[in-house]
Amino acid sequence: MTVEFCGLELRSPVINASGTFDAIAAHRTFGDELLERFPFAAFVSKTITLEPRQGNPPPRLWETAGGLINSIGLPNRGLHGYLEHDLPFYARLPVPLIVNVMGFTREEVATLVAAVSAREEVFGLELNVSCPNVESGLIMGADPGETAALVERVRPLTSLPLIVKLTPNATDVPAVAAAAQEAGADAVSLVNTLRGMALHPRTGEPWLGGRTGGVSGPAIRAIGLAQVAEVAARVTVPVVGMGGVSSGRDAGALLRAGATLVAVGTESFRDPAAGARIERELGGGHVSETPAKAANSVFR
Ligand SMILES: Cc1cc2nc3c(=O)[nH]c(=O)nc-3n(C[C@H](O)[C@H](O)[C@H](O)COP(=O)(O)O)c2cc1C
Repeated sequence: MTVEFCGLELRSPVINASGTFDAIAAHRTFGDELLERFPFAAFVSKTITLEPRQGNPPPRLWETAGGLINSIGLPNRGLHGYLEHDLPFYARLPVPLIVNVMGFTREEVATLVAAVSAREEVFGLELNVSCPNVESGLIMGADPGETAALVERVRPLTSLPLIVKLTPNATDVPAVAAAAQEAGADAVSLVNTLRGMALHPRTGEPWLGGRTGGVSGPAIRAIGLAQVAEVAARVTVPVVGMGGVSSGRDAGALLRAGATLVAVGTESFRDPAAGARIERELGGGHVSETPAKAANSVFR
């Protein structure tokens, strides 16, 4: 089950999707058992921005057929709050840490990349490019030229693995992936959520505080699979595949489509031990504890 990813050996190809597994909250609930049996082979933290953000007004979630629409709006403590409050906990996790960052200008992303990669607790960075560049008005990851310019700007600032997280809301996702690779990305990950909307059943007004949100879960599995296959055929760097992974079979499909790693997102809200289960279903148990202890563990 071990897999090589950007120079590191991981115990399995199963990691979490950014923003869908709150390791700090899980530790509050499950205690140190979480650290002993961490359900993923690497941990990707939720997106941080340079400044703290409150996120979008509520409601922030809508349950849709086969998934969720979220308009969380990236609430976070900002770079300095993250480094001071969150990173010390993440450094205790028994798996490599990947920090997901997003900025509204290239310079903001550059500041984030430089500051995060200076920390020795961090194994790699994931660039969330699903947001508008306020200088050009373009969604950074929707345009190959924008994506290339961003990666070229930040590449010299870090020697850590740089993963570009692609948005499915783009005309030509493989072209964006190729641009990221040419500009120096070490890997690409996809899919982020697809734009969606729900109306309030009584008023007919948009339900979500952010009006629209991102669709995730089984509803997008087929789209994720198709996009991962197309991107894997186009680039030579490793691909992290995601989108509606709920079982070992779904994870296996993404691996067969060319992904090196798979990320579990929405399924972890339903089952916080989903990562460990999917890893097991894929064919390898990673925890060698006594059967009695294992039977009592939620993360088996
Ligand atoms: C509630 C929620 C929060 C998310 N937060 C982030 C985030 O902070 N950064 C990010 O890059 N992606 C975020 N995502 C997108 C996921 O990482 C993933 O790309 C997407 O949900 C598709 O995978 P899934 O269908 O398995 O959930 C979020 C998704 C959900 C549902």
